[in-house]
Amino acid sequence: KLAKKENSPSVFSELTLDSPEVGEILVDIFARIVELNGRQIIIASIKNVSDQYLMSEKLVQADKLVLLGQLSASLVHEIRNPLAAVNLNLQLLSRALSENKELLSYVNTALQGVERISKIIDVTLSFSRQSEPFIEKLNLNTVVVSTLDLINHLLRKKEITLSFDLKNDLPLISADSKHLQQIIINLITNAIDAIEKKGTIALKTYVEDYPENNLKLVCLTVEDDGVGIAEEDLDKIFNPFFTKKPSGTGLGLAITQKLLYKYNGTIEVQSRLGEGTAITIKFPQS
Ligand SMILES: Nc1ncnc2c1ncn2[C@@H]1O[C@H](COP(=O)(O)OP(=O)(O)OP(=O)(O)O)[C@@H](O)[C@H]1O
Ligand SMILES: [Mg+2]
Repeated sequence: KLAKKENSPSVFSELTLDSPEVGEILVDIFARIVELNGRQIIIASIKNVSDQYLMSEKLVQADKLVLLGQLSASLVHEIRNPLAAVNLNLQLLSRALSENKELLSYVNTALQGVERISKIIDVTLSFSRQSEPFIEKLNLNTVVVSTLDLINHLLRKKEITLSFDLKNDLPLISADSKHLQQIIINLITNAIDAIEKKGTIALKTYVEDYPENNLKLVCLTVEDDGVGIAEEDLDKIFNPFFTKKPSGTGLGLAITQKLLYKYNGTIEVQSRLGEGTAITIKFPQS
């Protein structure tokens, strides 16, 4: 059908095929009609280009982050001052309207927007100000514990039980401790956000050993029993600005993934809507 299209000698097309084994795959098809021994035959070649496509999608996402890093700090400063004025005036308005539920809800929606903009500005600023990383050999357990000291106050806002299962004698990993802390903060704050009122966050560290490749991976799993992630969102959560929170930036996981790649680390997500989420990061031994 393809080869005869418009009577052209050869055709090229991109198609999505649904395969029972691997699901949807994207293919390039090239077909042409040739004469062989007086008979017309069709030669077609089909190439699976799904990976290529995914890769280009990823590059587009990575570009957005690079852009974010380059957004000039002065521009961000220029936005900051008027935004503070908007924020202050909305707060005053919200107080003055405390009796009027309907008008108050408009003001609160505007305040949420302002909060989101300020968070994006803060993240952008800290991203563009990042100095050269200071790489050292680190014990993942030590960084996990020191990070918890930093965010203890966030845990107290809800009824959250923290559980630990940190393996002894972890091999060291090479990274900047600030980056590691940033990654762990992002994962734990997401777990806290996922818990509505009461829940558990479990932190586990362990080693995966691949002797055949002479490789040891040092792993951290952050598991929560919160709201979980819908299946259709699983491949979007690393996209910059993807968020389901009213004042979230959607930059937490995008930055986490970018930082991990710096250290040849990986991130894996397991989640079930309504049951919870486990996010695992893995670093090669230093
Ligand atoms: N542990 C989790 N449980 C449920 N959903 C999660 C979890 N972690 C991430 N998500 C989903 O992924 C989205 C993107 O997360 P990300 O950390 O990148 O941004 P955010 O948390 O929305 O914003 P910010 O990090 O600025 O607070 C979240 O909005 C949420 O929908
Ligand atoms: Mg987040």
